[in-house]
Amino acid sequence: MRIEFKTLAKKYGTPLYIYDFNYITQQYLSLKEAFDGQKSIIAYAVKANSNLSVINHLAKMGAGADCVSIGEVRRALKSGIKKYKIIFSGVGKRDDEIKEALESGILFINIESEAEMKRVEMIAKKLDIEARISVRVNPNIDAKTHPYISTGLHNSKFGVEIDMAKRMYIYAKNSKNLNPIGIHFHIGSQLTELEPIREACDIVADLVKSLSVIKIDIKFFDIGGGIGIKYDDEITITPKDYADTIIESTKKLDVTLMCEPGRYMTANSGYFLTKVLYEKQNGKHRFVMVDGAMNDLLRPSLYGAYHFIEPVESKDLEKTPADVVGPVCESGDFLGKAVELPPLESGDLLIVNSAGAYGFTMSSNYNTRGRTAEIAIIDGVDKIIRDRETFEDQIRLEESYLNI
Ligand code: LLP
Repeated sequence: MRIEFKTLAKKYGTPLYIYDFNYITQQYLSLKEAFDGQKSIIAYAVKANSNLSVINHLAKMGAGADCVSIGEVRRALKSGIKKYKIIFSGVGKRDDEIKEALESGILFINIESEAEMKRVEMIAKKLDIEARISVRVNPNIDAKTHPYISTGLHNSKFGVEIDMAKRMYIYAKNSKNLNPIGIHFHIGSQLTELEPIREACDIVADLVKSLSVIKIDIKFFDIGGGIGIKYDDEITITPKDYADTIIESTKKLDVTLMCEPGRYMTANSGYFLTKVLYEKQNGKHRFVMVDGAMNDLLRPSLYGAYHFIEPVESKDLEKTPADVVGPVCESGDFLGKAVELPPLESGDLLIVNSAGAYGFTMSSNYNTRGRTAEIAIIDGVDKIIRDRETFEDQIRLEESYLNI
C-alpha cells in the first residue's frame, strides 16, 4: 500500500512512527492459517509493540498475548485479549505481579526457576486458589542469532535445564496450589533457520512424553517467539514451514500449540519517519543529521541492527555514503551507517523501514526528548493512536517536588 509520508509528516510532525494495520492482519492470518486444523493459540509478544490499538487490532482477530510484566498483562486485558489466551512470562516476577496475574485468571504463568515456582505456590496458597503454570525449559540449543537475543543456551539467564524442569513438574503435580498445564521454551529472536527450532521442539516433546508416563498431562506446548523477518536480504522462515516443523515434532502429543511472535507480526508494518535537519562533512565523512535519534529507535545503536533507510522523494542525483545520525549527545547515536543517499536538504524526509517491532517500545526520554506520536494506517486511512509526548508530560512526576 502507498503511504503518503509527506502528508503524514505535515499533519502529525516528525519524528513519527507509522504502522500499516493491514500488514499486521496479513501476518496474523498467515500464521493462523499455517496452523489450520490444529488446536493453536497465536499469543502476540506484546513487548514488540505494545500500543493499545495494535494489541486491540490483534485481539479482534482472536490473538492471545505473551506478556512479561504485569503492565503488559494489563495492556493485553485492556485491549480486549481474552484472559484465557494470556500468559505471563519473564525471568523475575515480583510478588505483587504474581498475585495480580493469579487474580486476573489468565491462562498460565510461565515459571523460570524453582524458587519462583515456590513463590507462586505460596501466593496461590494465600489466595486459596490453584495456580496454572508452565515451566520454561532451556533446551541448550544454539539459535544462531545475535548473542543479545539468543536465549536457549545454558549460559543464558532464561529457563531451567530439562532435569530440573522434570523435578519441578513432579513437585507441582503434588502441590495443592499448583497445576502444571503447559510447557514453554524460547530459544532466541530473529531466527532465520528452522533446524534449531526443530531440535528444541524434539527435545521438549520428549520431555512431555516422559511426563505423561508419570501422569503429568501437559496441555499447552508453547514454542515461544522468534520467527525472523527480512530487514535486508535475509532468507527467513516461512509460516508454513515453521508450523509444519512444530506439528511434525508434536504429532504424537495431544496439546494445544502456542507460539509467541512479536517481530513477525509488527516489524515490517512499521516505518519511522524522520526529517533531515542538516548535512555536514567532517573531512571525508558525510553526516546527515535528522530529528529522530537513538532514544526513538535504539536498535541500530544497541545491536548494530540494520534498518533500510530511504528518502521519501527519490532524487535523480548521485548517491554517496552517509551516516544518518540523531541529535543525542552520544557518538553511538546513529540510525544507519554508510547509507547510500543523494544530497539532502533541510526538511527532506527519510523513512527508516522495519521499525514496527522493538522501536517505540524501546524508546526513552534520554536528553529530555519527548516520545514520538504513533499513527495507524487502516485501509489507507491514517489515525492517530498515541499523541506526541509534551515537555509537560515528561516533568509531570517531578514538578511538584521542585524546590524541596
Ligand atoms: N517470547 C519470549 C519468551 C521472548 O523472550 C520474546 C522476545 C518473544 C516471545 C518474542 O520474540 P520475537 O518473535 O519478537 O522474536 N529487542 C530485541 C528483541 C528482544 C526479544 C526479547 N524476547 C530486538 O530489537 O531485536
